[in-house]
Amino acid sequence: MTTLPRTHVEIPVPVERGSPVPLASQIAAGLRDAVSDGRLAAGERLASSRSLAASLGVSRTVVTSAYAQLYAEGWLDGRHGSGTYVADGAPGYVAAGAPGQSVPGQIEPAAAAAAATTRSRGGFGAPRAQNQPRDLRSTISAGLVGDTGLATGAGLVGDTGLGTGAGVTGAGAVIEMRPGIPWARGIDQGAWRRAWRRAGVVPPSASLDPMGLAALRAALAGHLRRSRAMRCTPDQIMVTRGVAGSLRLLAAALLRPGDRVAMEEPGYPAARAVFAAHGARIAACRADEHGLVVGELPDDVRLVYTTPAHQYPLGGRLPVPRRQALIAWAHATGALIVEDDYDSEFRYDVAPLPALFGLDPDVVVHLGTTTKTLTPALGVGWLVARPDLTGQIAAVAASLGERTSETAQHAFLALLDSGDLGRHVRRMRREYGRRRAVIVAALASAAGPARLLGDTAGLHVVLELPAGTADQVAAAALDRGIAVMTLERYFAGQASRHGLVLGYGGATLGQVSRACEVLSALLPGPGTGAGPGPGPGPGPGTGPGQGRAGGRWRSADPAQGCGRGLAGREDAIQRRQAGACVLRI
Ligand SMILES: Cc1ncc(COP(=O)(O)O)c(C=O)c1O
Repeated sequence: MTTLPRTHVEIPVPVERGSPVPLASQIAAGLRDAVSDGRLAAGERLASSRSLAASLGVSRTVVTSAYAQLYAEGWLDGRHGSGTYVADGAPGYVAAGAPGQSVPGQIEPAAAAAAATTRSRGGFGAPRAQNQPRDLRSTISAGLVGDTGLATGAGLVGDTGLGTGAGVTGAGAVIEMRPGIPWARGIDQGAWRRAWRRAGVVPPSASLDPMGLAALRAALAGHLRRSRAMRCTPDQIMVTRGVAGSLRLLAAALLRPGDRVAMEEPGYPAARAVFAAHGARIAACRADEHGLVVGELPDDVRLVYTTPAHQYPLGGRLPVPRRQALIAWAHATGALIVEDDYDSEFRYDVAPLPALFGLDPDVVVHLGTTTKTLTPALGVGWLVARPDLTGQIAAVAASLGERTSETAQHAFLALLDSGDLGRHVRRMRREYGRRRAVIVAALASAAGPARLLGDTAGLHVVLELPAGTADQVAAAALDRGIAVMTLERYFAGQASRHGLVLGYGGATLGQVSRACEVLSALLPGPGTGAGPGPGPGPGPGTGPGQGRAGGRWRSADPAQGCGRGLAGREDAIQRRQAGACVLRI
């Protein structure tokens, strides 16, 4: 190893020629660490590939390929004609010249301060693995980021009502693999600006129709006919603030305290929370890998909430016989079916089945949202029901003073009318499809007793794991800068299946690939015993505090030095201190 002379910022990075790890990967890893622990700040300029290559004594191709990898992962930014910079939204960032300030993708003030303190203590002793989780957790414990489905300037959306297996409820300096997050950066900025310009030229109304803009409802009727085979008229459609907004109105209009509401188990926590907040008693009804187990529904519920296009979170598509049985059950019991169609646009195998609403509009209320297709920032969704029911719900909305931003409705209408929404969905289907393919390739076979579920649609998959292992894997992943969710969090009662829920909406292709590498190494090894079912507890070799690295099942207890646990990290730091070279950048 060599030590380069200081000029601007000096970053110690281990570059070992004898190592089996390719030089480009070593350089990329060193730079990632430097960004993560704050030695390199967002907006700081890196050396040109030519001068870095010369400094390190490696070929320029090695450096350009390290930079290319970091670009793909979102750590670096290129500005035309002026070089390579640490990206503003870099996963580990500390904003240049703005210590403690929150900027997109940035850790929150407490974490930034911690990173700054560490730097002032000497910098090099601030390895990412040591800082990053603490930063993230301090962000969370400081209550800076809620888990209400919306998050920080990072534009991240946590899954409503949930934290990760490691107790994380907010966005932070990590590769974001929690579900519920769309790739808002994929929205074409030109199209977005055009839509808001068009919305901006419409004079604002003094009073709003609680049903929503007539023109938008007409456009939605056409959109739903084409994309979801739904026959409905504009007077059946009400514009809302999204699925949660629709559920709040439905609950206010239809539920009395003590009414029973059937929910999929596991299921969407935000829906459960809305119904519970309206005094409903929740009847947890089993969902399997095909969706709601209709034959087990009780017959004394006022309504059932379901996700037939893509069961949340297990990912099943409700088969036609179960759909028919569900409609028959609703007629027999007088219950209403609430169909949450949250991400039906994204299927990768076959075309989606038509919406359940089409089978019987009398007993189904259909809910749609722009949260997954575009961004939760828009705050627009829709509810489709029988005309009398839609009118009733609109009247409740008016009485509660609930309304959806008229300007946002105009902007969404512009996106629909111009075809920009359709283009965006097609583009994102391809992009998400690529990320999904990386996950399937990495985890479907490499996962020992783990089982991948729900990989044919949506923006997330479930990696089912042996009982008693998911929390440990999630915590160890977070320790390595990967935020995931545990499946247990989606159960109202005792979890009967275990594993991780991995979203790929919020990470770049490169980040997804890196997250898969990390996760593969942490998964329980073969023979650990897994699979669905309650299970009495950890199988052989699956006890808490264990994980697999390099194909072997070993302790993930930081104190025992698994991977980059505390002791392991210190070893790694010492090794680096002994042999690091300093990159001049
Ligand atoms: C099952 C489900 N429904 C709906 C949504 C979106 O809801 P909203 O429109 O309230 O943002 C999500 C987002 O994560 C979801 O997971």
